[in-house]
Amino acid sequence: MSTILNESVKVHNHNIRNRIVFQPMEGCDSEFSGGIGELTRRRYLRFAKSGAGIIWFEATAVSGEGRANPRQLYINEKTVESFRSLVAEMKQVSLEENGFEPVIIVQLTYSGRFSKPNGTPEPIVAYRNELWEKGKENQPYIIATDDYCRTVSEKYSIAAKLAMEAGFDGIDVKCCHGYLFDEFLSAYERDGIYGGSLENRTRLYFECIDAVKNAVEDRMFVTTRLNACDCFPYPYGFGVDKNNNIDLTETKQIIKKLVEKGMEIIDITLGNPYLIPHINRPCTNAPEDGNIGLERIYKVTKELKSSFPDVKIVSSGLTFPGEAAMEYAEKLINENVCDFAGFGRMTFAYPEFYKDYLKNGRLERSKVCLKCSKCTELMRSGTVAGCPIRDSEVYMPYYKEFVLKK
Ligand SMILES: Cc1cc2nc3c(=O)[nH]c(=O)nc-3n(C[C@H](O)[C@H](O)[C@H](O)COP(=O)(O)O)c2cc1C
Repeated sequence: MSTILNESVKVHNHNIRNRIVFQPMEGCDSEFSGGIGELTRRRYLRFAKSGAGIIWFEATAVSGEGRANPRQLYINEKTVESFRSLVAEMKQVSLEENGFEPVIIVQLTYSGRFSKPNGTPEPIVAYRNELWEKGKENQPYIIATDDYCRTVSEKYSIAAKLAMEAGFDGIDVKCCHGYLFDEFLSAYERDGIYGGSLENRTRLYFECIDAVKNAVEDRMFVTTRLNACDCFPYPYGFGVDKNNNIDLTETKQIIKKLVEKGMEIIDITLGNPYLIPHINRPCTNAPEDGNIGLERIYKVTKELKSSFPDVKIVSSGLTFPGEAAMEYAEKLINENVCDFAGFGRMTFAYPEFYKDYLKNGRLERSKVCLKCSKCTELMRSGTVAGCPIRDSEVYMPYYKEFVLKK
């Protein structure tokens, strides 16, 4: 069928074949070394068959101490070959199945407050945060000192070179969901060169973007997944005013800088999945109706796109409309809210959704994501993440063992 979703878009000399983005979705299933595990490979080969124009690889650590769990992907000298082999296989599979190679972007991350490299919290934080730390006062908090921060860009530079070697087309310097760089955005009260003014609060993030840009050849995209707003109270949240309303003034200043640095495509997200999950991913079993969450994401993304019409914007949170997700994605693109439609949970539940839509003009009710967030429950219980409902043969046993038994 003919749909705007199937139109190509040129970004940074790549002809991206359609508007579908598979958003980064952690599977927590790497080898302990950080290399590609068996389930990682299975997931990404399913994604490669999907026909999506962009496959945005999940959060991948640039350092051991910054891993969110002992099975988070970690790119380093020892694991790079496993990434290279998977990326090549994905491109081959997509070429055979779909007649083109997708653009594959890797999300480089530093987990900061959510670091659990050995399975228990080892938080590295921008500042102490009463709101976050309530009930968790005894965790071994380490403040990332200015000297420590100065070492971080080198880790990004090394990881970026390895990502290029592995065959990725682009690199995302992740700045969202409360992880280290996003947390620095709200370090209003921190002293020194990484806190206080917006220039200081973005220093670490921009240093790492510059390091990545300098490390890779020009053919590679450098992009970012950016929290437009954290949606929790000032002074702990970024992108909110003192009355806790969303205020995108500083977000726009950041995007202006990113554009000056040559960034052509930005993946917009919001909220913090640890503190208020339904803001980040509208779902069924939440204190807020998912449609309200969807509307919030719509408004924020639209405001940013209309302020930066030349930047290609990827939207987030598109799984919630379920069977109507594709029509909703078409609406967003037709209304110029975004250029690319980003899907998260749907990719776990129903990776062939885009192909089904092109073939049948609709999604299969029996296959769509139920927005029940069982994938997150799996992740939070310390095991591998996937869809225990739609991909039950593989993931229901983990759900029974790690969630239901507990
Ligand atoms: C299990 C799980 C893992 C996720 N992993 C990542 C990740 O690695 N990086 C990231 O930026 N977002 C991650 N997200 C957020 C998703 O990319 C997406 O923004 C969110 O699920 C909302 O989109 P959706 O409604 O299409 O699911 C994850 C979400 C879930 C549920």
